[in-house]
Amino acid sequence: MVKLQIPATSANLGAGFDALGLALSFYNTAEMEENDHLDIKSLDNTKIPENEKNLIYISAKDLYEVCGKKLEGLTLRQTNAIPMARGLGSSSACIIAGLVGANKMLGDPLTKDDLVDLAAQIEGHPDNTAPALLGGIVTAVFDGRKVHWVKQEVYTNLKFAAIIPDFELKTNDARACLPKEVTYKDAVYNLSRAALFSASLLTGKYENLRTGVDDRLHQPYRMKLIPNIDEVFDIAYTHGAYAAYISGAGPTVMAIADGGNEFFAGKLRFSLENAGLSNWSVHELSIDNEGTKVVV
Ligand code: HSE
Repeated sequence: MVKLQIPATSANLGAGFDALGLALSFYNTAEMEENDHLDIKSLDNTKIPENEKNLIYISAKDLYEVCGKKLEGLTLRQTNAIPMARGLGSSSACIIAGLVGANKMLGDPLTKDDLVDLAAQIEGHPDNTAPALLGGIVTAVFDGRKVHWVKQEVYTNLKFAAIIPDFELKTNDARACLPKEVTYKDAVYNLSRAALFSASLLTGKYENLRTGVDDRLHQPYRMKLIPNIDEVFDIAYTHGAYAAYISGAGPTVMAIADGGNEFFAGKLRFSLENAGLSNWSVHELSIDNEGTKVVV
């Protein structure tokens, strides 16, 4: 059996819509081997498709096809700690699990670049799939066929608090609410902030992060789909967050705070409860610099 651990991801990082993403210390696992039929089971309580609609299986089959092989069937055991449809890259984790697992089963014929490209073609954008595979913070441009990417490892003492509501927001709905066109001014607004965010994160100029996550391409539209999100942002900033942004397509809010900000998660929880928002849970995470790895 090939056994993999795949990290959660947080895409966009505010202004870097469809371009920036980072991997976090929250993991799905997948064990797989070739079979002549499908034998798919969840090892936790997560409900997953146990048929040919399973995303790990679909992605594995795609990789086999690229390599001129046919995947007749698959034994698959998966755990899904990353909550689904919350903006933490759960679908990308499945796509990457399928591709990396299939590549391993075939003796690693495809390169990392190939896997990044294939994953982006399956998902449509690379900002979750690339960091799920590579780890760290990834800057990626998908030109429709190829992904041009840079992975940077991040060693900071920053805390990432994922503030996750108990409701889902499907990426399709969170993309359908976006405008078809934006003004020149708004485009400049975003590209300057996306560049500022990654440069500031990587050089330790954390006081810039709040400006860096501000955006006019997606968050203002998506906030309307996420009840009480204004209050959640307010609570994060009240407790000293450097920045807070909608993780991926939402509805999770990611708050970044200093490593020395003691009891940040506890304070967030207490304030959320006080505000009647105990349906939002807080998970303190750190950056995963390794990405998907084979585990024993
Ligand atoms: N960049 C994507 C979006 C991430 O915001 O829609 C979610 O897949």
